[in-house]
Amino acid sequence: MKIVLGIETSCDETAASVVREDGTILSNLVLSQLEEHAAFGGVVPEIAARAHLEHLDTLIKAAIHDADIQFSDLSAVAATSGPGLIGGVMVGMVAGKAIAAAHNLPFIGVNHLEGHVLTARLAEKVTFPYLVLLVSGGHTQILIAEDVGKYKRLGTTLDDALGECFDKSAKLMGLGYPGGPNLEKIAAKCTDSKTARERFALPLPMHGRAGCDFSFSGLKTAVRNAIEALPAGDLQEKDIAALACAFQHSVGDILKDRCQNAMNSFQQYYPQNDTQTNALPAFVVCGGVAANQHIRTILKDLTRKAEMDFMAPPLTLCSDNAAMIAWTGLERLNKGLTDPLDIAARPRWPLDPTAEKKLGAGVKA
Ligand code: KG4
Ligand code: ZN
Repeated sequence: MKIVLGIETSCDETAASVVREDGTILSNLVLSQLEEHAAFGGVVPEIAARAHLEHLDTLIKAAIHDADIQFSDLSAVAATSGPGLIGGVMVGMVAGKAIAAAHNLPFIGVNHLEGHVLTARLAEKVTFPYLVLLVSGGHTQILIAEDVGKYKRLGTTLDDALGECFDKSAKLMGLGYPGGPNLEKIAAKCTDSKTARERFALPLPMHGRAGCDFSFSGLKTAVRNAIEALPAGDLQEKDIAALACAFQHSVGDILKDRCQNAMNSFQQYYPQNDTQTNALPAFVVCGGVAANQHIRTILKDLTRKAEMDFMAPPLTLCSDNAAMIAWTGLERLNKGLTDPLDIAARPRWPLDPTAEKKLGAGVKA
């Protein structure tokens, strides 16, 4: 059975993992650089690249050791080749290419987004085609996964990514980095969401419009205005809890509206369910923000009503990791999609090259 080493260095996680063709994760190591970046309230590209360089070799050795294999047992090496912070991506690619060259193995340059999208097939053997909501710190997209390497983008953000909106709003609320999980925690302290929403009437950008695009910068600005309107002095926990709760509910409403449109489109493209297995088509939510319980609950309910099958990978596979890169390597290897050793890193790399470019979204589209 084939075995692939995966390397992920596109943002602030240094990760290495070994995955077998049957979906068994033999090792999965993630080293977070949270502490290095916390003082700056966000990821600093230069610090990230240096930290990857410092830790990657040891981490790869440990991943091979934990998997109880030798480099010579590998069938291929896969490394994230974009999109992401170019310095970090290059560190991971150079390491991956060197191992591939030294052991005479095929190299696979993986699109980080494809890694997130194909995780559904690693975790639960989801079959093509399926609908995906990818919500992370860097990306917010809705895609139809048609096959390995074949994606149709139905929607993307026109400005901030959802995770970024969580992080920036949390920062305004005085919560530590990364903001998403902290915002969710404090929102849980609010017991009356209806009153919270009436008190902080937050906007629902793009809600009710045709299509599946998102916009989150207005929501973040509304959070800033709401905080500035609070009584002067230290922020009170109960006020922040209510605001965080109102924020999460607004996000939930936006996602529900956008995903409903996406489900309608999916059903137009693929009117018939899988008649061979009678399986319902899957709706997959992935990326770091998929860890949010409120969001999961809302989307699960929506999926059930649309007669689709809800799937969210386990939390360790939702946030950035290298198992998803190794798995994508396996999927591509099985299709003969390997890359030459001079393949370049790509800071921007849309999964659907035919999708319309959106001004303002930049790398996020
Ligand atoms: O996928 P990921 O680990 O890295 C990127 O590729 O960006 O996503 C990280 C993002 C951060 O913005 C973080 O705040 C957000 O996911 N996040 C959450 C939660 N856990 C992580 N957002 C909301 N609720 C959470 N529980
Ligand atoms: Zn990611």
